[in-house]
Amino acid sequence: MSIHVNEANLTFHLQTDHTSYIFQIMKNGEAGQIYYGPRIHVQPTYQNLMSQEWRDATPSLNEENPNFQPATIKAEYASLGKGDFRQPAFQVTQANGSRITELTYDHYQLLTGKQRLANLPSTFDDTDDDTQTLVVSFNDRITGLALGLNYSIFPHQDVIVKSAKFTNPSSEKLVLNRVLSSQLDLPDANYDLIQFSGTWARERHLYRHPLRSGMQSISSLRMASSHQQNPFMMLARPQTTDEQGAVFGFNLVYSGNFLDAVEVDQYSTSRILTGINPDEFGWNLAPQATFQTPEAILSYTSAGMNQLSQQMASFYQQHLVNPRFAHEERPVLINNWEATYFDFNEAKLMTIVNQAKRLGIEMFVLDDGWFGHRDDDTTSLGDWFVDQRKFPDGIEHFSQAVHQQGMKFGLWFEPEMISVDSDLYQQHPDWLIHAPKSTPTPGRHQFVLDMARPEVVDYLFKLMSQMIESANLDYIKWDMNRYATEMFSSRLTSDQQLELPHRYILGVYQLYVRLTQAYPNVLFESCASGGGRFDLGMMYYAPQAWTSDDTDAAERLLIQFGTSYGYPQAMMGAHVSAVPNDQMGRITSLKTRGAVAFFGDLGYELDITKMAPTELDQVKKQVAFYKRYRQLFQFGKFYRIDSPFVGDGNVTSWQVVSDDQKQAIAARYQLLNHPNAPYTRFYFKGLRPNQRYQINDDPSTYYGDELMNAGYFVPTILADGQASKDFYAQLFVVTAI
Ligand code: GLA
Repeated sequence: MSIHVNEANLTFHLQTDHTSYIFQIMKNGEAGQIYYGPRIHVQPTYQNLMSQEWRDATPSLNEENPNFQPATIKAEYASLGKGDFRQPAFQVTQANGSRITELTYDHYQLLTGKQRLANLPSTFDDTDDDTQTLVVSFNDRITGLALGLNYSIFPHQDVIVKSAKFTNPSSEKLVLNRVLSSQLDLPDANYDLIQFSGTWARERHLYRHPLRSGMQSISSLRMASSHQQNPFMMLARPQTTDEQGAVFGFNLVYSGNFLDAVEVDQYSTSRILTGINPDEFGWNLAPQATFQTPEAILSYTSAGMNQLSQQMASFYQQHLVNPRFAHEERPVLINNWEATYFDFNEAKLMTIVNQAKRLGIEMFVLDDGWFGHRDDDTTSLGDWFVDQRKFPDGIEHFSQAVHQQGMKFGLWFEPEMISVDSDLYQQHPDWLIHAPKSTPTPGRHQFVLDMARPEVVDYLFKLMSQMIESANLDYIKWDMNRYATEMFSSRLTSDQQLELPHRYILGVYQLYVRLTQAYPNVLFESCASGGGRFDLGMMYYAPQAWTSDDTDAAERLLIQFGTSYGYPQAMMGAHVSAVPNDQMGRITSLKTRGAVAFFGDLGYELDITKMAPTELDQVKKQVAFYKRYRQLFQFGKFYRIDSPFVGDGNVTSWQVVSDDQKQAIAARYQLLNHPNAPYTRFYFKGLRPNQRYQINDDPSTYYGDELMNAGYFVPTILADGQASKDFYAQLFVVTAI
């Protein structure tokens, strides 16, 4: 049993295999946070952790309880306006304009397992993994508003999932101004905030800063989780590394505007809030209506950030990713985007397909430009029917030809978008998100469809279904290439306009639900100009995601290393592209490009009909090598070893290890070669100390303890005939014997 309730003093102790999360109903009827961290014993009371001292110049609950001062307590889900002046978890406006609520505990419910949420992506337990769910219910004395705080405990992955649900039992409309998914008040502020930030082609770089007094936050107002900030963040003790130390991970199962905030208050308490961004948000809660927040993920370990990433990766695989694909090896694909851009026809593509077949590639993905009359990025979005000029015999004919080669076939869509030069715009100019009297702001010559309109979702479902069926699609790349502006919907009333950002993303989810239910065998890859919507909401529907439009091997080291903190490698689409690289102009060897892309879902995105025979031979070998170790590359335990975000960043290394620790592959990447370099040893991770291993074709055997502690010699001198060791990759295949 993982949830312990003390009925006498209403204390809730949630235990996972290695963590405890404790809270209690307090004098004022609200819940107070007691502890989150390494697992501790269940006790009848934790009074010492609830101790309060009177502080001057601070309001008290009432005259009888001078020591109960809301500003000094650690709350579980705080409001503003009753003496706690920190950022609140929620705020509700009543018909009379008052925003004051007084929540009081009502009852609790313990359930076995974890159900999916109705209209949102969510965690689940289909496998009887000892999951338990606790719902603690409160009523507001003033409005009657009911609040349910949901806690699901996944003991074996040390994950707690939190969300809140509001119900309005009154006869008056209430407006939710702010409804965060999780609040966690930690007793001190001696943490580094680690966030993953960037921009297009430079997603999820790691930034680490000590917490400071006041508010610090990561957020998005782009109606997508964004390239710029990612909802995943960590709080780590200053000494914590990938290898050791205390660290909390926070993430959100949501793809829209989000807020991750940490407020360090006057007493160095850290309040962590995660959820829908309260800016550009407001929700009318009609009488009898409910509002469910997205789910927040919380995880803790005392064993460093590699352990945190591994336990979250295991959690997502078992309890978030579509079970149809969660454990299925992902196909090696060829994508025509960087090979042809918009300049293709069926005959040209067939030469790529045939070549791909010879190389052992398993799926052909037809990217942008197959529909409407789209020869560049200025037209046709919304017209999801095939361009007969490029496919005179229809997409069916091409798809059949791909399938006849024994390969899978995938297609690119950008469902949420509309070009002014399109049939769809002629028919439904009003479907484009735009504000009265304002000129719509273009982005990549395109505009955003109002996904809050059911008729838009219906239209997209119909057209995409037709394509899925006629082309017998195995895979869809669902792209989203611009952020929304002029947020206004003529379909909504004036007081509903702040609902649009959330309604938009609910519309996106609705389309995903309908498509994944109607076509359960279609594998989805999400994309947003590369990694602009790389989040857990997307992961629920689309098991893989295009990590970045930047396919340069050296840049990918930073991007994939940063991404690996919060997301498993099976989610990361990673392609080998041509050199000089289209985004960076950099030249790296095919070997290095392969060695970087192996640590994700491998694909090729270059014109393989133009490669020299020696290169083709190399690609064929790469594909065969990857397939042989694919299980390990996609689902093995991922260890970060040398960080490109530390020091001069010249060396990056990482490693994957099988669950039985019999097989591992490590990679060491060097940006620039240095003359007469120091002797270098490679220190492996996650091996069995008493097991003997062999490395590559080295005939010697080594114990795991030697490889992990003493290391393995890495040659640095150029071998004969080698031009350079700039952008140089070394792979170490470690096999138990
Ligand atoms: C975005 C994607 C690319 C490609 C293009 C097509 O930039 O990230 O992979 O699909 O759109 O226009």
